[in-house]
Amino acid sequence: MRVADVRRKYIEFFKQKGHAHIASASLVPENDPTVLFTTAGMHPLVPYLLGQEHPEGRRLASYQKCIRTGDIEDVGDADHLTFFEMLGNWSLGDYFKEDAIRWSWEFLTSPEWLGIPVERLAVTVFEGEEGIPADDEAVEIWKSAGMPAERIFRLGRKHNWWGPAGQTGPCGPDTEMFYIRDQAPCSDDCSPACSCGRYCEIWNDVFMQYNKTADGTFEPLATKCVDTGMGTVRTAAVLQGKDNVYETEVYAPLMEKVAEMATGELTTRIQRILADHATAATFILADGVQPSNLEAGYVLRRLIRRMVRFGTKVGIDGSEPFTPTLAALVIDIHGEAYPELGRNRDTILEELAGEERLFAKTLERGLREFEKVLGGIRKGMERGGSNQFPGRKAFDLYSTWGFPPEVIKELVEERDFVWDQDGYDKAFAKHQKASTADAGKFKSGLQDHSEQTVRLHTATHLLQAGLRKVLGDHVYQRGSNITPARLRFDFSHPEKMTPEQVAEVERVVNECIEAGLDVSWEEMPIEDAKAKGAIGVFADRYGERVKVYSIGEVSMELCGGPHVANTRDIGRFKIKKEEASAKGVRRIRATVGSDE
Ligand code: ALA
Repeated sequence: MRVADVRRKYIEFFKQKGHAHIASASLVPENDPTVLFTTAGMHPLVPYLLGQEHPEGRRLASYQKCIRTGDIEDVGDADHLTFFEMLGNWSLGDYFKEDAIRWSWEFLTSPEWLGIPVERLAVTVFEGEEGIPADDEAVEIWKSAGMPAERIFRLGRKHNWWGPAGQTGPCGPDTEMFYIRDQAPCSDDCSPACSCGRYCEIWNDVFMQYNKTADGTFEPLATKCVDTGMGTVRTAAVLQGKDNVYETEVYAPLMEKVAEMATGELTTRIQRILADHATAATFILADGVQPSNLEAGYVLRRLIRRMVRFGTKVGIDGSEPFTPTLAALVIDIHGEAYPELGRNRDTILEELAGEERLFAKTLERGLREFEKVLGGIRKGMERGGSNQFPGRKAFDLYSTWGFPPEVIKELVEERDFVWDQDGYDKAFAKHQKASTADAGKFKSGLQDHSEQTVRLHTATHLLQAGLRKVLGDHVYQRGSNITPARLRFDFSHPEKMTPEQVAEVERVVNECIEAGLDVSWEEMPIEDAKAKGAIGVFADRYGERVKVYSIGEVSMELCGGPHVANTRDIGRFKIKKEEASAKGVRRIRATVGSDE
């Protein structure tokens, strides 16, 4: 069974059950300012799961492209992917548990559809927690459908609860379906809860019964909904008896191409990284995102840079960009299901080539300097010195050669040296202090572009805080674009701001600037960031560590930086324009500095 067969059968099955097939939405979310990318099939449907009427009716099905960026660095093992496709069916206040489970069972086991032998299947259901009862109903439905009781596992919230996709929105208990691989149990307790690989999750039925609100409470939904998600490629892989998705026909040609291009030592991990990143980058470019230093553009940039770096490492000839070759294959592989790839073919290939050329130069120079530093450390070690790569040196490589710290960190660890985050942070903070002192000296504004951009970036955080204070908590960032000349900030707000509101926001921001608030950051698990009330872009991954920037007590945002060390360094903030950007989205242009 090919990937395309699983997709086609799924849509066909749910059409037969009265569902309308809706098209895959863009990877750039339209109705969730809290995440950079569409992370699940339900994501574009949030307003409808919350009660808005959908033009196609109350039963929907789709195949949806998704990006989850929480663990880019883990890509390369058998499981992690940044891009994946999710099959889903939804009930918007129509059918609920009984039908959802029975149809899942029928689709999985009926010879007409996937025809998976019952002994290959196991399921999990919610065992109840914190005032939310166990899902005994789901257990009974599974049993009556034909699932043997010993393969119905009851697990807690960590496993059997889903959502919300962003910071707020619909969520609820779920029941997950697993394919049991030809692999012995790892212990007497081996179950779908363990990660030994025997149980491979292929589908998840979520019973949406709650809406998580901005203050963290779970309010019951007016109408109960069903949201399901099946990984297309993973399901095809298990049905093909393959150990992992990279062996299926949607990755194998990419894996082979990488092997063909590599002239040095090649590992499976690097083959997979290139196959995954090429797929993700191609899809992201097709949806109109361009490489940049911010948000979705930065994720894209990181993906491309990693491709270049690993390509260089395995000796792929970079005299001409090689990433477009991989992207062309991705377009061939997925072009039928996703016509936007073919439509944007030229742009995709050009953007990749441009970004690759840009980074290849930086990489070449950076690597040369990096090796010099390593040489010094090795010499030191012969005299009993440590194998730590000083963070100060890493920062020098970054500030002098533009060599990205995340690449340096990876290289350091790859070579079995020790990365010094603390030293890096200190050097970074020191540099910021020093460069602002310089700016102070040149009152006429002899700042270089990057410093001005950093000021505008910190001002953007203050602006968001100011807007939320003046207009309300419904305000979230919907987009941000910073050039050395100005910031441009898009945010959710239903109507034009009054002149008084604009003046008030400007006043609040300038008050923060004049107060000389320290800007600090710490890294923490995403759950802690959420609990502390940080706003920003939350990827849908548990356990991910994120960087949270705080400005005094006024702002706490997930962000990669960089920022000024103290708000005084920003200079006077001025709103130049407030206008409409899209439906429900306003746009502000503003400047900072002493030019007024
Ligand atoms: N939204 C659910 C998931 O992503 C189905 O697993």
